[in-house]
Amino acid sequence: MRDEVSWGVTRPMRSPLLTASVYAMPDLDTLDRVLTGQETGYIYARDAHPNSTSLAAQLNRWHGATWGLITGTGMSALSLAFLGLVQPGDRIVSSRSIYGRTRQLLDQELARFGVRTDGVDTNDLDAVRRCLQQPTRVLFVETISNPLLRIADIPALAELAHAAQACLFIDNTFASPLLCRPLELGADLVMESLTKMISGHSDVTLGYLGGREATLAARMQQIRSIWGLSGNPFDCWLTERGMETLHLRMQAACANAARLAQWLTTQPRVCRVIYPDLPEHPDHALAQRLLPAGRGNMLGLELEGGRDEVNQWLRRVPGIPFCPSLGDTQTTCSHPDTTSHRYDSAAEKAAQGITPGLIRLSVGCEPFEQLQAELARGFGNR
Ligand SMILES: Cc1ncc(COP(=O)(O)O)c(C=O)c1O
Repeated sequence: MRDEVSWGVTRPMRSPLLTASVYAMPDLDTLDRVLTGQETGYIYARDAHPNSTSLAAQLNRWHGATWGLITGTGMSALSLAFLGLVQPGDRIVSSRSIYGRTRQLLDQELARFGVRTDGVDTNDLDAVRRCLQQPTRVLFVETISNPLLRIADIPALAELAHAAQACLFIDNTFASPLLCRPLELGADLVMESLTKMISGHSDVTLGYLGGREATLAARMQQIRSIWGLSGNPFDCWLTERGMETLHLRMQAACANAARLAQWLTTQPRVCRVIYPDLPEHPDHALAQRLLPAGRGNMLGLELEGGRDEVNQWLRRVPGIPFCPSLGDTQTTCSHPDTTSHRYDSAAEKAAQGITPGLIRLSVGCEPFEQLQAELARGFGNR
């Protein structure tokens, strides 16, 4: 029997990291009381562990959720939600502008179980209304879409979904709860890839799924355990630490992104800049209304000359790492055509405007002038 740690009359300033995968109990009666919720306790880490409980509680507060679960990745939060919501024969209506792996989850994986997904332009509310005339279980959309940064009109979509008896499920990864709290705008379920801005240092993979309807909680918890979708204690602990600075990181990164977007529009080899704060962005007004705290740290720029020009640009800016993720403290870049949307069909990418010349920047917290100077090297300005 190992000794128990005691803090005495003091308390640790940081939540302890509890790596135990299993917990011991004095007898069978205790096991029954814990399993039926009469007493608090932990049994097996795949079902629950203190670090995920504490992280979920904090995210629930931020999102105004009545329940929330931590999962091993953002994709497992998406999988968990759909596994809990749909049955064979059900239909999902999804925004067409979504992360490529989510599209594969819907179109390839869920399709194997007899769940159909129809894509729609969720910025065309009449099209959404028409699409929801057929029975629909879930309407799915990203708050700020990957990679084209379209903004979802969550209050309007919630109204349409509920009028059609569908549930509105939001991927809030690009916004984070600091910029948008979808449950407060009428959504039924929200997920975050905690891998990104919320943990914030490219050293975690985790997801979060939260909601307001308490009856869903037990079902989602059971699915998470059975399908083995939970996250590990160390990643939860790191994420809680990252969350302490999220407001500072997000503020700095949004300010940098807004200034960079303006500057990029003046660069001769850039033929398109995508940022919701720019007046030419199709959802500029919506972004001002729905994202008053900031339009996010994600930014798109398209280079004339396509893939070859992108290759040369990447080689000229080693200080902006090319890596297929986002949300680090330092600015990184990615190439949707060959990474996040690699497996989307060429026709789908062309229809959406995901071109070979498109670079996605995840803007970080560096001093602006340093960042601008590094990017300028890519344009041969220095
Ligand atoms: C918008 C969005 N949702 C979900 C995910 C999946 O998250 P994870 O990589 O943590 O599984 C990603 C990953 O890039 C994403 O960009």
